[in-house]
Amino acid sequence: MSDKIFICRCEDLTKEEIEQAIDEGYKTLEELKCKLRLGMGSCQGRGCLLLARRLLCQKTGKSTAEITLPPARPPFIPVSIGTLASDKNE
Ligand code: FES
Repeated sequence: MSDKIFICRCEDLTKEEIEQAIDEGYKTLEELKCKLRLGMGSCQGRGCLLLARRLLCQKTGKSTAEITLPPARPPFIPVSIGTLASDKNE
């Protein structure tokens, strides 16, 4: 059994990979998002951004208030292509 700890399951990012990026100088969630695609999977960060913020706090000594979450962009919930393409207003 693997002892890897997955932080972002959508993008298969482990705790070790995120910590390595922080050690390389990526000190915000936006920077980690750009480098690793953290939070860009199908759940749009619902499963990983808070965990990654906690890692950033531990590694940088900052408080959670100092590390802002990336802005949420619509759609805020998954929407099927059929719904977007439909003429119906439902
Ligand atoms: S767990 Fe990271 S984007 Fe879904």
